[in-house]
Order: sequence, then structure tokens, then C-alpha cells
Amino acid sequence: MGIENRVALITGSASGMGKQTARRMAENGAKIVINDIVPERVDEAVGEFRDAGFEVIGEVADVCNKESIDKMIKSAADKFGGVDILVNNAGLEKAGLLRNLTEKDWDITLNVNLKGAFLCSQAAHHHMIERNYGRIINIASRAWLGGPGQAPYSSAKAGMVGLTRTLGLELGRKGITVNCVAPGLIRTPLWDEAPEKMKNRLLSKQPSGGLGTVDDIANAVMFLADDESSFITGQVLYVCGGRSLYAG
Ligand SMILES: NC(=O)c1ccc[n+]([C@@H]2O[C@H](COP(=O)([O-])OP(=O)(O)OC[C@H]3O[C@@H](n4cnc5c(N)ncnc54)[C@H](O)[C@@H]3O)[C@@H](O)[C@H]2O)c1
Repeated sequence: MGIENRVALITGSASGMGKQTARRMAENGAKIVINDIVPERVDEAVGEFRDAGFEVIGEVADVCNKESIDKMIKSAADKFGGVDILVNNAGLEKAGLLRNLTEKDWDITLNVNLKGAFLCSQAAHHHMIERNYGRIINIASRAWLGGPGQAPYSSAKAGMVGLTRTLGLELGRKGITVNCVAPGLIRTPLWDEAPEKMKNRLLSKQPSGGLGTVDDIANAVMFLADDESSFITGQVLYVCGGRSLYAG
């Protein structure tokens, strides 16, 4: 039961919900690999985790770069003996209406969110197959259902849902589950800085009336990562205060 002594690699975990998920997993006895593209943030997060007495290593790597990802997974396996839990959390959004988007906006959004999840899953799954055990959790978004101004992001996150379902089919008999968490509006520094008018418009569409927290996401990831969640695969777990019940 639980995730004690499991090795968990969380991409983009030097900040935000990835960092909180890593912290919760560490508190529950997992060995943690913190990955991010920003070296100073990785150093800072690793320092915090070590000070708290957690078993942790830091890996600076760009999830879009196959060579760096293969190296990162290898050093995680060398240090901790394998990778049991992979959380594909690294992501970003380039927002804009179709007429304003650039090819660069499209490429970076698809690369970091979708190609990154593909490359990390591919590199990690070999170790999971060896152990006949694995949990892959993709952090998509409620936005995969579609949202004005979100063409690249929605497409990337929809691609992550397709990837989740396909890998669920391919890896089911290897003891590996693959699921998605689809967050809705989560309180982050970006939210705090957003204009009041925009915040009010977004909140008016929240059935729950409020925002989620990074802990709401960490809870959902922890549930899917648990040894006992072995009969759940290929699913999308919305953590969005009911916002997925509305279109658009
Ligand atoms: N915040 C929200 O409201 C929300 C809602 C829905 C979905 N999400 C998704 O949740 C995930 C985490 O979001 P967050 O709000 O915590 O964001 P965040 O910006 O705080 O964290 C994302 C991290 O990913 C890292 N990163 C970016 N590109 C990378 C790359 N190429 N390689 C490795 N790391 C990279 C960033 O440096 C950053 O530390 C993302 O996938 C995001 O799309 C967020």
C-alpha cells in the first residue's frame, strides 16, 4: 500500500504543482528525482528537500531533448535502482487567438507538453517493464476539451489524453498503469497577478465557485500513484471544481 520506497520522477518539479507533488510523495516515503530546465530552481528545490531529510536527486534536463532525457532516466536508475513512478508535469502555454499565434508558439507548446511526455514515458517504461511495475501520470488540463485562445495548449493536452489511453492499452499487461490528471483553475502566482475582470469572468464559470490548490493536484496524483490503484488505467481524472461539465 502507498508509495513508500518507490522511486518517483516528476518533470518540471522545481516549482508549482510539480514541486508540491514531489514534496507530498517524499513525505510519504518515496525517493524523489526533481527535474526542471532551470538549474537554479533545481538546486534550490533539492536543497529544501535534503534539509527536510528526504531522499532526493536533481536532474536538469529539457524534456524535449531525447538525449538529455535518456541520460536523466539512466542516472535516476543508477542512483535509486529504477523508476517506478513518472509524473509528466513539465508544461507551458502560449496563448492567443488563431490569427495571432506563431509557428514557434505551436512548436514549443506541443514539444514541451506532448513530446516531453512521450520521450520521458518511452525512456522510463523500460525500467518499469523490468520490474513489472509502473505508474505513469500525465498532467494534462481541463483545457484539452477546448478553450478560446488555447489552440496549441488544448491540442497538446488532448494529445496527452490520446497518449495516456494508448499507453494504457500497450502497457496494461506489464503491471504499468497510465493515467491523466486534468487540472482546472489552480491558484498560482500567475492567477494572483491576473486582472480582476478576467478573474471574475473565469470564476463565474466555476461550479465550485472557487479555485483549486496545488495540494488538490498532488492529492489526485498521489491517489493514481498508489500501489492500490492498480486497476485504474487509461483514465482522465478531472480536478477542476466541476468546470469540465461546461463546454468552452
Ligand atoms: N496552473 C494551472 O492552473 C494549470 C491548470 C491546468 C494544467 N496545468 C498544467 O500543470 C502543469 C504544471 O503547471 P504549474 O502551474 O505548476 O506550472 P509552473 O510553471 O509552476 O511549473 C512548470 C515547470 O515546468 C518547467 N519546464 C518548462 N519547460 C520545461 C522543459 N522543457 N523541460 C523541463 N522542465 C520544463 C518550468 O521551468 C517550471 O518549473 C503543466 O503541465 C500545466 O500545463 C496547470
